[in-house]
This record gives sequence, structure tokens and C-alpha cells, in this order.
Amino acid sequence: MTEGSAPAATAGADADSVPAGSSSHEEVLVLDFGGQYSQLIARRIRECGVFSELLPHDVPVEQIQSRKPKALVLSGGPASVYADGAPTLRPELLELGVPVLGICYGMQLMVHELGGRVEQAEAGEFGRTTLEVLEPGRLMAGTPATQQCWMSHRDTVFEPPPGFTALASSPESPVAACEDPARGLYGIQFHPEVVHTPYGTEILTRFLRDVAGCTEEWSPASVITEQVEAIAAQVGEGHAICGLSGGVDSATAALLVHRAIGDQLTCVFVDHGMMRKDEAEQVVTAFRDQLQVPLIHVDASDRFLEKLAGETEPERKRKIIGEEFIRVFEEEAAKIADADYLVQGTLYSDVIESGGDGHAASTIKSHHNVGGLPEDLEFDLVEPLRTLFKDEVRAVAAEMGLPERFVWRQPFPGPGLGIRIVGGEVTRERLDILREADAILQEEVRAADLYRTLWQSFCVLPVVRSVGVQGDERSYAYPIVIRAVTSDDAMTADWARLPYDLLEKVSSRIINEVPGVNRVALDVSSKPPATIEWE
Ligand code: XMP
Repeated sequence: MTEGSAPAATAGADADSVPAGSSSHEEVLVLDFGGQYSQLIARRIRECGVFSELLPHDVPVEQIQSRKPKALVLSGGPASVYADGAPTLRPELLELGVPVLGICYGMQLMVHELGGRVEQAEAGEFGRTTLEVLEPGRLMAGTPATQQCWMSHRDTVFEPPPGFTALASSPESPVAACEDPARGLYGIQFHPEVVHTPYGTEILTRFLRDVAGCTEEWSPASVITEQVEAIAAQVGEGHAICGLSGGVDSATAALLVHRAIGDQLTCVFVDHGMMRKDEAEQVVTAFRDQLQVPLIHVDASDRFLEKLAGETEPERKRKIIGEEFIRVFEEEAAKIADADYLVQGTLYSDVIESGGDGHAASTIKSHHNVGGLPEDLEFDLVEPLRTLFKDEVRAVAAEMGLPERFVWRQPFPGPGLGIRIVGGEVTRERLDILREADAILQEEVRAADLYRTLWQSFCVLPVVRSVGVQGDERSYAYPIVIRAVTSDDAMTADWARLPYDLLEKVSSRIINEVPGVNRVALDVSSKPPATIEWE
């Protein structure tokens, strides 16, 4: 047993449908044995300047060979090499003539395969662990004799295979790292990809640079040329449409496609009337005026508000907004006569999490693909961000001149302010109140230089009224709740400890400047058990 995690989706993905990859840059392939951190390994390798992709551990060997990788990495995983049905290592992978680095379970597999001894340790090692370097070898050269690392395993290596040198040990792992440079085989029991292993990046760099001979020249921006060429080849003389939301993913996808096919792209921005203050104008100004991308701006707020009339139940509101969005989008798409391609901002994490179908373009079959577009909308997809992680998309966006406001925009839900008016009907008056209050919060959070440190910061309007006294008069008005959270992925979140001075300023400005509000409260709940949004 190594990591106590669920197998990653790629481990079970269809191994025959792995993307062809790009041969224009050097790459390192990470074979996924179901580890919790497999994605992170690919990310760290990219941060070292080497393109990396995660493939299922059972991907056909010919497919690996055809991509001419500079090295292979075998990820960790939750299994024991002795467990029935545990993923195994095909020995030919160790004989492809490219260096191999096994991490955690990946190391145990390699050692087990080559005749070393893997057994259950007396106690598992989970979390921060001290590593004693016995012999730096090639992999750990230049790193301290005693160093911290992060581990997550129960089985461990007691004896390296013949020909290997043990490089390091930890309290429960007699062989916590080993190597056989002659055969290009390297193994580490700890996780170099997590931040809690301070020399992790250095050890990865040593493997990439000194062992695999990578030149470390890849950067997210290098994707631009490659993608622009690929899009031009895919779309040819065709016409593409792209639904812009104001978020960085759809914006970046649109910019790449626009660079490739120019005015054969039409962007559609459906304004449902539940965007934040000035947001719709900012999208129009940035795209139509600054970036010169053909853009249809549909102000459909009346339609959405009519459909939402009388509704208070969160999921029904989402459904109404989602369905109306489809209708408006379809109407606009129908006006663009020959549109046969739909641009989507699908990211690499979406591809991995959905099992990785691996194709550069596919046809929409399910509404899940596009967050609400229907099954019978038959476009070919153009997905230029399919190989990129979120932070890499931001780098591409910045490189392509997307205004900083969009590059660094905090996540904003599709249904917008519609799910931030809670316990009562969504009306224009309430939207206006919430929009003004939210704008003040955004302005002050930015002024305090906290915007980027927060995952999200926003206001909620509970439809209740409370008594106040304003200008010697009794008021009976709405409260506004401030919600600000820190998070890495929105799966868990903590309430942000905003400075009191900032809270005081925001509270006093909202109450003084927004008619209809006489009270400001702060949400101090973490997720779980609360959620980030109130609905
Ligand atoms: P919760 O509230 O579930 O939110 O903790 C997690 C993340 O998802 C966003 N969110 C949505 N995004 N449509 C979206 O596009 C939605 O209906 C929706 N609901 C929540 C939320 O803002 C947070 O980032």
C-alpha cells in the first residue's frame, strides 16, 4: 500500500485513445498508476521547462515509442505490488533506451520487477519524513546530507535490485532512493512533486537535465505557435463560434482561435443580466475594441428575469438560467450561417478528470461537455487549451495581451448573481443592490492588494430585512453578507481572515453608498461543512 488515494481517472482510461502529442518539443511522459499526485508530477516537470503529459500506465508501448519521449516517470499509486489485480510494470518499458524515474509505487514496481526486495515496512511513513543521503549518486548530487521529504507509503524497498546503488534512507525505508545510471533507472520513495519536499524540484531537475539531457526550453507561451497552426489546419476555410463568459479559459481559447483564423471566428457573449458591475461592458470593450475579435453581445436580461420570476429554489434557478442560456446561444448560432466549429476552453485537468479521450477535437455528444449545450447541437469542437493547466492558461493569456483583469479574474459561477440572491425572488432591484455592494467589495479588496490571494470574494444578498437607524430615521432594509475564501481547487475552502480595517471600510461604504442596505455581515464558515456559494 502506498498512497491512500483513489486511482486517478487516467489509470482506467481507454489506453488506445491517447493523444498523439506534439513532436515539436521534447517531452517526458508520466505513466499514471493511480497516484494522488500524478497530475502534479506533470505540472512540476513543465515548471522545469519540459513538456509533460500524463498517460494511463497501460498505454501501448508503441504509442510511447512513437512520441519519442526524453524520459518516462512512473507515478505513485494506492496499490501494493503484491496485491491481486495491482497495476504491473511491463519490463519492456525499462528497455526503451530512455531514462526511467519511479516515484513511490513506481519505484517499488521497478525494484520488484528487477529482483530487489519490496516488503511492508514496520510502520508506514505518511507526511514529513527525514531523509539521510547515503551516497548522492547522479540523482541527489548537490542536495544536503540530511533533508526533509514528504512520503505516503506502507510498503518499502529493503534491498535494491542487482546493479543499483542505494542513495538514501528514511526511518522506515532502508532504501528511500536508488539508481542504476548504466541502465538509466532511478527510483525515489518520496514525492518530489509536492511542496513539502524542499529539494524535490532540484531532484527532478537533476533527472531531467543531467540524466535525460532535456534542454528545459518549453514554456506555456510556446504552445501559442503550435496551437495556432493546429487550429488553422483544423478549421481551414470553416467558421467557428465561441461563447465568451468573461472567464480566462474561454477568453484565451477565443484569442488563440482568432489568431489562427481571424474573422472566421465569431464570439457570442450572452449577457443574462446577472453579471457584476460593468462586467459586460468590460468584455465588449476588451474583445471588440481592444483585441478586435468579432463579437455579438446579446443583452438578454429581460428574458432571463422573466423566466426567473417567482423562483427561489437554487437548483431550479440554475436549470432555468442554463436552459435559457442554451436558447439564446442557439438563436445566435443559427444566425451565423456556416458555423461548423465550436470553440471550448476545456483544460487539461478536465481532460484527465473525464478519463482523457485524448483527441484534439471531438463532436459534442452530451451536454456535460459544454456546461449546458444540448445534444443535438452538432459542432466539431476546437479545444486549444486541452493540454494546459489553469496557471499555464493564464501565462498564455498574458502573453497574448488579454487585459490583466481577465487573466486574473476570480472564478465566477455561470448563473452569476442569480445564485447570490438567496431566499427570495431574483429581481432587478435586488440585482442592482447586490451589484453595487459587490463592486465596493471588489474595489477595496483590489486596493488592499488581496484580490489574487483570495480564491473568491463576493457579496450575498439574503432576502430578509432588518431594522436600522439611518439619519435619525428607522430603516428596514437588506443585509449584505461578505464571503471571501482561500482555496486551491474549490473542493475545500477556508474563510479568509480579511483585515479589520478592510472590513470596516467595506461595511461603511456599502451601508453609506448602497440604498436599500443597512447592515453588513461576514461569513466565517469553511467548506466543508458550508459551500463557497450560498446556493
Ligand atoms: P460551492 O458553492 O459548491 O462552489 O462550494 C464551488 C465552486 O463552483 C462555483 N459554482 C458554480 N460555477 N455554475 C458555475 O459555473 C454553478 O452553478 C456554480 N455553483 C458554484 C463556485 O463559485 C465555486 O468556485
